[in-house]
Amino acid sequence: MLLEAKEIYKSYGKVKVLKGISLYLNKGEIVALVGPSGAGKTTLLHILGTLEKPDKGAVYFENQEISYQQDTLQARFRNQYLGFVFQFHYLLPEFTALENVLLPILLYRSVTSQDRERAQSLLERFGLGDRLHHRPSALSGGEQQRVALARALINRPKLLLADEPTGNLDSQNTQMLFEYLRNLVKEEGITVLMATHKEYLAQQADRVVRIQDGLLQSS
Ligand SMILES: Nc1ncnc2c1ncn2[C@@H]1O[C@H](COP(=O)(O)OP(=O)(O)OP(=O)(O)O)[C@@H](O)[C@H]1O
Ligand SMILES: [Mg+2]
Repeated sequence: MLLEAKEIYKSYGKVKVLKGISLYLNKGEIVALVGPSGAGKTTLLHILGTLEKPDKGAVYFENQEISYQQDTLQARFRNQYLGFVFQFHYLLPEFTALENVLLPILLYRSVTSQDRERAQSLLERFGLGDRLHHRPSALSGGEQQRVALARALINRPKLLLADEPTGNLDSQNTQMLFEYLRNLVKEEGITVLMATHKEYLAQQADRVVRIQDGLLQSS
């Protein structure tokens, strides 16, 4: 098991969003997280990725509790083991596609030629070989989402948390992006938890977990 969350609770003021969620992720599986808008998918992903603390409950990554560690340790955990695709992808407008992909590395150390090669090959795999030096404003929405996905994968994470990675894409582009992703994660043994509203996408995952009324229903 790569990750296990036990009895996670989270409220914002009086709004109880997560009411005792338990979840596990096996190594190498792709799990879809579905549920109505406002159900708490983003909140849960943020907690699993140590971007937010639960009110109660614990998250274990490779048997180590990660929710209540010091900020610096959590930051190192995220940088080493985690790739995150945000619901709103947050590419930096001043940087090219290639530079955006290299950003997680730039924050910690200088970029090597191997890093550049990996960034370039990820973008090529995602069909962006001829867009390496374009800025986000010169890319379509779907192209920007593929850049954000490449950025999440640059550090060879063990876990990819993807929040609506295909939001705003038509079904054909969604399918394409998912196939790029599936091939790569199977090759590299990456575990994926992906929030999505698209039922046809969720059905292609290895497993679907459904969040409703603050609780998970596995199916
Ligand atoms: N920082 C916050 N402060 C207050 N309320 C919040 C905060 N973040 C989320 N919420 C509330 O928590 C609930 C869950 O939000 P969340 O973003 O996790 O839902 P979601 O399932 O990701 O929805 P969507 O499918 O629309 O992305 C919502 O009611 C939202 O308004
Ligand atoms: Mg969300």
